[in-house]
Amino acid sequence: MPKFETISQLEEYRRRLLAQRDAQAPQVLVCGGPGCLPMGSEEVAAAFQQELKQRGLAAKVILKESGCQGLCARAVKVMLRPREITYQQVTPEDVPEIVEETLVKGKILERLCYQADDGAVKAKKSEIPFYQGQHPLVLGKMDLIDPTSLDDYLAAGGYRAIPHIFGKMSPEAVIDVVERSGLRGRGGGGFPTGRKWRLCRQVPGDVKYLICNGDEGDPGAFMDRAVMEGDPHAVLEGMIIGGYAIGANQGFIYVRHEYPLAVKRLSLAIDQARASGLLGADLLGSGFNFDVKISKGAGAFVCGEETALIASMEGNIGEPRNRPPFPAQHGLWGKPTVINNVESWANVPEIINQGPEWYAAIGTDKSKGTKVFSLVGAVNNTGLVEVPMGTTLRQMVYELGGGIRGGGDFKAVQTGGPSGGCIPKQYLDLPVDYDSLQSVGSIMGSGGMIVMDEHSCMVDVARYFMSFLNDESCGKCTPCREGTKHLLEILTAITKGEGQEEHLALMEELCVTMKDASLCGLGQSAANPVLSTLKYFREEYEAHILQKKCPALVCRPLLKYTIDPETCTGCLACVRECPADAIRGEAGEPQELDQALCVKCGMCHAMCKFDAVKVES
Ligand SMILES: Cc1cc2nc3c(=O)[nH]c(=O)nc-3n(C[C@H](O)[C@H](O)[C@H](O)COP(=O)(O)O)c2cc1C
Repeated sequence: MPKFETISQLEEYRRRLLAQRDAQAPQVLVCGGPGCLPMGSEEVAAAFQQELKQRGLAAKVILKESGCQGLCARAVKVMLRPREITYQQVTPEDVPEIVEETLVKGKILERLCYQADDGAVKAKKSEIPFYQGQHPLVLGKMDLIDPTSLDDYLAAGGYRAIPHIFGKMSPEAVIDVVERSGLRGRGGGGFPTGRKWRLCRQVPGDVKYLICNGDEGDPGAFMDRAVMEGDPHAVLEGMIIGGYAIGANQGFIYVRHEYPLAVKRLSLAIDQARASGLLGADLLGSGFNFDVKISKGAGAFVCGEETALIASMEGNIGEPRNRPPFPAQHGLWGKPTVINNVESWANVPEIINQGPEWYAAIGTDKSKGTKVFSLVGAVNNTGLVEVPMGTTLRQMVYELGGGIRGGGDFKAVQTGGPSGGCIPKQYLDLPVDYDSLQSVGSIMGSGGMIVMDEHSCMVDVARYFMSFLNDESCGKCTPCREGTKHLLEILTAITKGEGQEEHLALMEELCVTMKDASLCGLGQSAANPVLSTLKYFREEYEAHILQKKCPALVCRPLLKYTIDPETCTGCLACVRECPADAIRGEAGEPQELDQALCVKCGMCHAMCKFDAVKVES
């Protein structure tokens, strides 16, 4: 890789690269995203390498490990280009057959393809409903490139935005474009990105900083991780543009230490960019100096909050502080600092490439562009999706998500991470954007979307999120520290059947105080899971408190297990599993469950193959 000293050297290199590459050459892209990696994608890639070598095809077939290809529940996925055949649940044992049948003979292996409800086989990515409603912009290069290859990024049009700006656009003009695009921060707050940049540019000072917030502490969220691991140069390219716009020469990427692969890929991308003159002094002869360093976080959720993040980077305790002053005015080491989310940065290059009008035409009136969500829970198709803002919840659940798993009933969707809200069925046609979600008591957050069916207890869901928030509250301010603790105590009591009628009003009062008086967004939004479930699922709270029943059959202390003598075969599977020796009886005879000894662990119910263990509340 040469060191580019001018824009024309970069463009000449790209031209040569594209001329050398045959777009019709067979390519195997094994998904190395967060869903596929733990399911054995490296073993699948190794099997391809070996098989291609053995058959003398290694020089003819390009093998790559790509970023996240979506549809994460069907790991390991393999994309075969140029036909865009998408195979799922591929194991190393499938590889010889794929090579022989598909790569050599051109036949499609139906057993590895997506099957629709009516049994129709969907071999191509464009035919699979999960991908059809998507608009991949940030995730657009994920199944095209090897994230460790700068050449791949360049060949896919990467670092095209830099020549657009150097020598052609003033920093103010760049800010103007970002402002006109309508991009709002993808880290949760939805603050207009261009406005933040302008504010920082206008603050006097020679030294300014940029930060990419890759903390991503929401349980179940892996959007930012997928981008950092799967397309790290896109983040760097966005940051170079941001640095030029605000007048910063140093950027930092804050990544939690639980994301070692993201750190590795970003570090490699930084090294590659430095070696090729895309980072460092006098970028492409523009006179602009810019470099990026990685700063590792220890994994506290609150350190995703911008002022706590800055404190943690400065070596102080990761606790938030009052704003104003905002980081754009007084940030890292007291200098004006722009902090944006990973996805926000990754949006910037395409905004410059395609123009603000193009970007603003995607999405809704006040929420422009696309958003990446981690669609998980009780849907058939789970994984990372990127949709235009304004896509309805119904489309997310029933089209992309393929409906409720097992044909069950939709109950709610929880958006926005731990401090988001639970949205009930009546809002299935709600467009997903910043303002609509807020209007029903939830938030966009960073893009968590958990779909729940009738097997979810909404009181237990609220208790789960409150337990997370209570653990993660930094304790600096009293409303959050004490509020999350008391809410958790009350919710736990209710799920144990120890709730009292006055608890509901008490929780509402606590929630209002926390919203009004907490220091940062953690405490201010911690009430959302409680308030939204109280608003839309109050009857479930009442059932727990007044009748001591859990209608969803989730809260174990409120359940009663019995053995139906008519269906019990006396196979003793439940007896062997029962940790409390609560089940007695002869082999081959119906068993009896002693209620006084039962610890309600549910193991007997889970083990019984004959549906003889009944559960009621
Ligand atoms: C408790 C808490 C955790 C947060 N975690 C993150 C995070 O992991 N990533 C992120 O980008 N923003 C997070 N934020 C939002 C940041 O404070 C900040 O608004 C964001 O990084 C700004 O970037 P954006 O404008 O591009 O969204 C968090 C906020 C709070 C209150």
